[in-house]
This record gives sequence, C-alpha cells and structure tokens, in this order.
Amino acid sequence: MGNRIIPVPHEEHKIFPPPEEFSKKAHVKSETEYSEIYRKSIEDPEGFWADMAEKNITWFKKWEKVMDCDFSKPDIKYFIGAQLNVSYNCLDRHLKTYRKNKAALIWEGENGENKTFTYQELHRHVCRFANLLKKLGVKKGDRVVFYLPMIPELAIGLLACSRIGAVHSVVFGGFSATALRERINDCQAKVLVTCDGSFRAGKVIPLKNNADSALLETPTVKQCLVFNRTGITIKMTEGRDIFAEKALADENISSWCKPEEMDAEDPLFILYTSGSTGKPKGLLHTTAGYLLYTAVTFKYIFDYHEEDTFWCTADIGWITGHSYIVYGPLCNGATSIMFEGVPTYPHPDRYWEIVEKYKVNVFYTAPTVIRSLAREGEAWTKKRDISSLRLLGSVGEPINPEAWLWYHHNIGKERCPIVDTWWQTETGGILISSLPGAVPMNPGAAGRPFFGVQPAVMKADGSPAGENEDGALVIKNAWPGITRTIYGNPKRYKETYFSQHKGNYFSGDGAKVDKNGDYHLLGRIDDVINVSGHRLGTAEIESSLVVHPAVAEAAIVGFPHEIKGQGIFAFVMLNSGFQSSKDLEKELVKQTRKDIGPIAKPDAIQFVEGLPKTRSGKIMRRILRKIVEDKADEIGDITTLADPTVVEKIIEGREAVSSKQREKREKRETMEGGKRKDST
Ligand code: WTA
Repeated sequence: MGNRIIPVPHEEHKIFPPPEEFSKKAHVKSETEYSEIYRKSIEDPEGFWADMAEKNITWFKKWEKVMDCDFSKPDIKYFIGAQLNVSYNCLDRHLKTYRKNKAALIWEGENGENKTFTYQELHRHVCRFANLLKKLGVKKGDRVVFYLPMIPELAIGLLACSRIGAVHSVVFGGFSATALRERINDCQAKVLVTCDGSFRAGKVIPLKNNADSALLETPTVKQCLVFNRTGITIKMTEGRDIFAEKALADENISSWCKPEEMDAEDPLFILYTSGSTGKPKGLLHTTAGYLLYTAVTFKYIFDYHEEDTFWCTADIGWITGHSYIVYGPLCNGATSIMFEGVPTYPHPDRYWEIVEKYKVNVFYTAPTVIRSLAREGEAWTKKRDISSLRLLGSVGEPINPEAWLWYHHNIGKERCPIVDTWWQTETGGILISSLPGAVPMNPGAAGRPFFGVQPAVMKADGSPAGENEDGALVIKNAWPGITRTIYGNPKRYKETYFSQHKGNYFSGDGAKVDKNGDYHLLGRIDDVINVSGHRLGTAEIESSLVVHPAVAEAAIVGFPHEIKGQGIFAFVMLNSGFQSSKDLEKELVKQTRKDIGPIAKPDAIQFVEGLPKTRSGKIMRRILRKIVEDKADEIGDITTLADPTVVEKIIEGREAVSSKQREKREKRETMEGGKRKDST
C-alpha cells in the first residue's frame, strides 16, 4: 500500500501562519485587519453591504433600502427597489475595459480538446443562446432545466437565462432519468437543455436517452434543446427536440440581446439538494444578493487578483460550480477554468497536467479528490510543473488533517495557503473560511466567519456551547447569499431552517469553536450523508430501496470511508418469501442507480430480520450508526426499543458483512498496487 496518507497524532497538529510573501500582496493582510473589517460588518451590516454593493456590482437602478431580514417569519430581502442584470455584470461591463479580450472561460475537455472564450466571445455566445431561448417562447420567470455535462454550453446557458430573466435549474449529469423527471416536474420547466451523451473516464453516458425517459411524464416541457457532444446515435422527437448547434447558427439569431432589468429579489435559479426527509428540495436563489455574495467571497477568500487563473474542479451541477466557476469569477472579470473530466483519467496526474498547461494560480477542490490522489502516490504530483499555484482551497466536507497536510506539502509545496471553505447550497457562497493572507491556518478547521456572518454553536437545549464543546452550527443573522425559499414549499423552508433554533438559521451541521475562535466542522447531525462531497438524503435512498418488491423496510446510514468521507450502508429487511442473495444485492444497487443515480448506490448491504425501533415505530439510526462504525460498545441503553433483541442479531450479521468488505478492499488494493507499479 506504500502511499497511504500517514495519520498525524492530534497533538502534533500545527498552526500555519499565512506565508509572509502572500500576506504582503493580499487584499486583507493581517488578523487585525480582518477583525476590524469583520467588526464593522457586524456592527453596521447595512453600511457594509451597501459599500460592497457599490464597489462590486453595476446597478441599473439603486436600492431604496439595503436589507429587510426577519428569520422569525422568515422573510429575507436585500437591495429593495434596486435593478440589475446578472449577465450584464458578468459580461457586458467588462467589455468596456481592457478585459474585453481577456479569457473569461477556459474549457478543457476530457479528451484534451480545449476552447478559450474571451469576455467578448462569451458575451456573443450568451446573447445568441438568450435569443434562441426567447424564440422558443421562454419568458422572464420561466424555468429552464439543464441536464448537461461540463461543456461550455452549460455556463453559456446559465448566463443566457440570467440575461432574459429565466430561472435556471441544473440537474447534475450523473442523476438518473427518474431524478431528472422529478426535478423538472417540481419546478415545472418549459424547456430542457441536454446533449446526446457525456464522457466519463473514457465511457459514454447516454444523457439524451435518460432525458427521453424523463420527458415521457413531464407535461410542462414544450421543447428540448439537444447539443452534440459524443456523436452517439440518439432519437429525436419531432415537434419537441431541436438540434441546438443548428438552431444557434441560424442567421436570424442576433448576437445582441438586451439584458432584462431584473428586480434585486427576482429569482435567478433553483438548485435541488437533499434534505433529511422526503424528496430533494428546490432551493431558490435571487438576483442581487446571490451575485454580490459570490462576487465578494470570491474576491476575498480566494484573494483574487486580476492576473489570476482560477480553477474550481466542481461540477456546475452543484452549487460550488454555480458560485465559483460561473458567477463569482465572472462577476469579478476573472479567468475561470472549466474541466469536463475526472481527476484520474487517463492518469492520476490529470489535474496537475491542467495546472501546468494553464498555469493555474488558485485551485479549489474537494477533500475526497485529495484523498484519492494521495492514494495514487506522490510521484504523480512530481511529474508536472505546478509552481504557478499560489493558493489552494477545499470544500464539500471536513478535510481531515492528514489530507490537509498532504495537500499542503505535495501540492502547495508548503508555500501556498489553504482555505478550507465551509458552506452549503442554501448559503449561496462561503460562510466560514479563514482569509488566506490574514488568519493562521489550522488543519482540519474551516476557521473564521466571513464578513457579515455571525455563526454560533448551540447545544441541544438551545443554550450556547462553550469552548471546544460540540453542538449544532447555526447562523444568527442574514447574509445576502442565503436561499430565499424552497421553491413551491415555503412551509418546509421555515420548518427545515428556522424552527430548530428559533431566530437562527440551522445548518444541519455539527461544529465546535476552539480557543482561537476557529470553527471545526464535525459533519451532518441530521439524516443527510455526504458521499464524496455529494449530499444525499438517507430518506431518498430508503424510498428507492423499498420500491423493490423484495424489500419490506430499509434504513440507510453513513459510515466512515477512507476516500469518500462517508460511504452508504444499507440495512434491508425483506418481505416474507424473499431470500437474501448476491443477485438480490445487485438488483437493489440497480434500483438506487435507476431512481437517483450511481452516486446513491450502497457500498454495503446487510440483510436483517428487524430494525431497531422505538415503541412509536421510529427507526433508531443512532444505534445503526454505532454498529457500522464498529462501536457497538457505545450503543448504550436499548431497553426502550420495541424489540431490543434485534440489535444483537444485527451486530452478529454486521461482522459477516465487515469481513466481506475487508476482503473486497484487500483485493482491490492488491490490484491497484500492481497497476500503480506499471504506470508510474
Ligand atoms: C458539508 C457544498 C466541513 C457540510 C458547498 C454542509 C463541509 C454540506 C465543508 C453542504 C467544509 C461543505 N468543512 N463540511 N469545508 N463544506 N461541507 O449543499 O456538511 O452540497 O452542510 O454544498 O457539505 O453541501 P452542499
């Protein structure tokens, strides 16, 4: 195994001061300076955000009031009475400057193809796309769903929607037809934008086929725009499907489209994310607050400078891609890289090859990527010249100190600061992260709150947690980027975020604050799991499993996974007359792939005779979590269960599953070890 990340005992954790060279040139140069700006932003939020809004956004009409926010209702509004356009801010205003011919978007295809769009070129493409949408009958406020891989047309399409005031909703290309259909129907989209297929590690995923299945039951979709990426054969439905490239090339489509004057609180997009219960929720983000918040966090947290080449490796199907590939960077006039592929294809140095090729300065990725690349060995990081890097970022899940140190040493060469950025789809942009030139880095801790954000840690009884005491992470006040509602379900919005700790926004995460005021994130405390930085609701996976005729009941829990952060463990109780078998396991995995997508497939399935339930019938996941973490001795009192004997049986069964998992892992490692020797 040779290249495993070496665990560092906790006592040895060091605090890393910001490198002097970095601080000298940074927007915020010292802890004192950070604290001073932070203090002002909290004491006078209206003044702070008004100042930021003046400096970072071009307005068609100024606001009458900066903010009107009440968490108890909840009702959140910023820049009341103001008008602006997001695509104008991301494109047009740069054309009047030296940025006109600066690279806005650099796209790198999985197969090595690449395209660079200057601000001027991007503007032209966006205008044409916007005019095409208009021609298809898309009007201000209409929803357009995007089911695309990481191709430039995705970024262009989002900006085109924002130009005409249409509301986009991106569905990650790894989701299944069923998941796509549910999202289209929830937001009642008028148009779907997709493509023939997508490349994934050399394979082709038939996106249009999935879209066709989804569109069988989506009455609101009138038109489907289809781009050509892979050249695979697809079926086109007359009257509904349109070849997008041909439609965009039409000479009647103008390369100028007037940007719609949008009210500050007009919707910009809906993005679906998983919650503890029920179906994914469509989080709605609005125009001014979201744009300002992503622009400002991008500038300060990534310490953005005009000459930087910025690369966020996320997929635009997730919030990270929305905020830090498209809106944040482009609003700042930055050069943003968009990569279609995966980190290990065709080789585990693919990311470093791209860093070398484009001389990337700021690199933003997820801990799961860092862990999986660390596993491939340091040799891969040395094959490329990555000396252009000056700042590294992490997002999506807590970064374990071992992975942090590996990243710092092998990628940052102990020269680049690392920003560990905590945030959520709901928050629009980063809420907690130490500013790289100002605040010392503490591996494993996200650090300090961003300007204007007041986090707190609360104990179960609602009282504030003390130093180093675990509790629920809440935010006490509003910030411009916060989601305004759950589309079509304001009641659920209030219940999910504003009912647990009255007067505060509840994040669903556990946290503690150390003596320096650094926030340490401790993972989800609700029934959401985080698999490779992807959020999944346990309820969604359970609902999928019980659709299978053999399954009576299912309970999903996360378990610690070396690479993915968390893996998915399924406890399944069968209906009478059904027997557990390898084939049935395969069928269940298939079921989750069909209903949600490959990211939701269980890593392990244990068939059980019964699940631990309270007398009122609630499944005690806490007990199941302890069992999968091999901490059965910490389960505690189970006498209140309806049938305490099930626990003993599950523990016995678990041992059998564990030894199978171990065997599988050992086999995989032996094979991969062999492969690595051949290729490095
Ligand atoms: C987790 C992704 C610890 C957290 C931007 C949160 C993190 C969920 C971090 C949101 C971090 C994200 N440290 N945990 N730096 N960043 N998380 O909505 O549990 O896909 O609630 O947004 O990811 O996931 P989402």
